[in-house]
Amino acid sequence: MNLSSKTVIVHAHVVTPATTDLLPISDMPLLDLPDQAIIIEDGQVQAVVPSSEAPVGNEWNVYDVRHSIVAPGFVEPHTHSVFAGDRSMEFHSRIQGEAYADQQKKGGINATVEATRAASDDELSMHLQYWLNVFLCQGTTSIEVKSGYGLCHEQEMRLLRVIHRAKQKYDAVATYLGAHAIPRGVRREDYIEEMITETMPAIKENNLASFVDVFISSVGYTVPEADAIFGKAFELGFQLKAHLWEMEHDDSRVLLEKYPFACIDHLEFAQEEDIQMAISKNTVPVLLPLTAWHLGYNIRDTYNLIKQVDGYYAISTDFNPGTSFAPSTWQAITVGHIAYGLPVHELFLAATVYAARALNRTDIGTITPRSRADIIVLGIPSLSWLGYLHGINPVEMVFVNGNNVIDRRNVE
Ligand code: NIG
Ligand code: FE
Repeated sequence: MNLSSKTVIVHAHVVTPATTDLLPISDMPLLDLPDQAIIIEDGQVQAVVPSSEAPVGNEWNVYDVRHSIVAPGFVEPHTHSVFAGDRSMEFHSRIQGEAYADQQKKGGINATVEATRAASDDELSMHLQYWLNVFLCQGTTSIEVKSGYGLCHEQEMRLLRVIHRAKQKYDAVATYLGAHAIPRGVRREDYIEEMITETMPAIKENNLASFVDVFISSVGYTVPEADAIFGKAFELGFQLKAHLWEMEHDDSRVLLEKYPFACIDHLEFAQEEDIQMAISKNTVPVLLPLTAWHLGYNIRDTYNLIKQVDGYYAISTDFNPGTSFAPSTWQAITVGHIAYGLPVHELFLAATVYAARALNRTDIGTITPRSRADIIVLGIPSLSWLGYLHGINPVEMVFVNGNNVIDRRNVE
């Protein structure tokens, strides 16, 4: 392989959002440009020009990708990818009718916490990197990873260090979700105090997370508790996101009004004023089709509210061992389309540019000049095969920072 940092991808049928501006989804320009050359230098897209204008010379690594669709790598703004243990039996009981909320009382998140605490750093690192690689092979080039299965100072710090280690290899964005569940055997006010006075300052000092998240729910944290956590997080300079309205409605809208959230996620029980408030504050609603599908909820009502206010949304897998054991953005797109009827061109925008904006990022999510050259080559003839072709991985090639890290073409 030529080690030059100059790469050109030729005969590319490029499909990309045209801008990273947070426009309403009805106005977001989606480019569909056959036979293009993507010119990449130092890990960045320099230009997209017709193939006939591609640069020539020995210094260029040339990839010919004719007959495929070339898109920005998918972005996952919501995953719980660092954990240990096995909750498959709980999942099957749920399929037989047991409620997720009831399962929280005996197992649930705290069952994963027990297994995660018992695992070594190396085991957790190995598991995490395995899952991140599964995502990458399926075209997800940037991924948010939450802590949240440690639920005490030491353990949450440890999980964030494990995520930090993965950053050497993956474009991983770390989120502190200490407020994921109430740990067993601890008074909730003591744990909240620990998060506020000890853990968040230590995370900031060691630069171990970009975001702070809270699971606001009858089985998680109350709105006043979340207010106290977000208040401290905001003061310390963390970016904010929240699990909202997953199982019921509550008055979390006061938090939206008070703090600048990059995104709010789940939203199955959101109301119109909630969505209005989010869009008016440039907060990205994140829909999680796989979780809704696993739990028997519907994202269609929330989707309709978003359309009603001419807004936008991202999607994500919510990959976790409890409610979404499916590390595949492609699968989230498929379920979003087949189970909930979301249009595929919107799902594509939701998994690229809006997912990037949900993470406050403008360097990813498009193939445009100065974007990171995180690019995927899909073995499909047009975008209309999204949500149509499923049960296989259509990703043929993946480029990360301009480097070709996966090539599954011509596999014998
Ligand atoms: O996003 N809502 C809370 N957290 C996860 C579930 C985590 C688990 O069950 O382990 C979710 O659905
Ligand atoms: Fe989640």
